[in-house]
Amino acid sequence: MGIQLGDEAPDFTAETTEGKLNLYEYLGDGWGILFSHPKDFTPVCTTELGAVARLKPEFDKRNTKVIAVSVDPVDSHHQWAQDIEDVTGATLNYPVIGDPDRTVADLYGMIHPNANDTLTVRSVFVIGPDKKVKLTLTYPAATGRNFDEILRVLDSLQLTAKHQVATPADWKQGEDVIITGAVSDEDAATRFPGYKTVKPYLRTTAQPK
Ligand code: BEZ
Repeated sequence: MGIQLGDEAPDFTAETTEGKLNLYEYLGDGWGILFSHPKDFTPVCTTELGAVARLKPEFDKRNTKVIAVSVDPVDSHHQWAQDIEDVTGATLNYPVIGDPDRTVADLYGMIHPNANDTLTVRSVFVIGPDKKVKLTLTYPAATGRNFDEILRVLDSLQLTAKHQVATPADWKQGEDVIITGAVSDEDAATRFPGYKTVKPYLRTTAQPK
């Protein structure tokens, strides 16, 4: 059984393109995203790492640190960085872990023997300030991830962690949210004035500030 939602994120210390990094110290009180890619100098991975570098200011705004990992060594990541810049125009601006002995990959179950037991699959782990895993995603090697979607999920996770609300299908920042069943109608009237009852089990309100 791999890592489940709500599990404590395994801590580790690893070599990265920005030097030695301890996960818990690096994240501090903030949020974290650990994402793996199969291999350096491969096409989909090159576009993905550039996409994340471009979105780094968005992750910063959300108090979220991003860390990439693959089973290639740090030297290889450094050489590959120039290609990422050539192809995507983005400079690597977050740490990329070199994990040739698979310490991190094994801790997080990022090697998928049914896919290829020498490569990391495209996993994403969102880690909350309490160091618990809030989201996991696994994509196959041939499908690049949508990092705008990961930002959208982060917005939802951060909102629902703070207020007793949930977010509906396709929700985006600024749209109405759902008041969870944990909030009585009486409390909802005080906390979310003007909320709407669509069905007795579906009450909506403007996104809390
Ligand atoms: C890629 O990033 O393009 C890739 C990596 C490993 C296997 C297949 C594709």
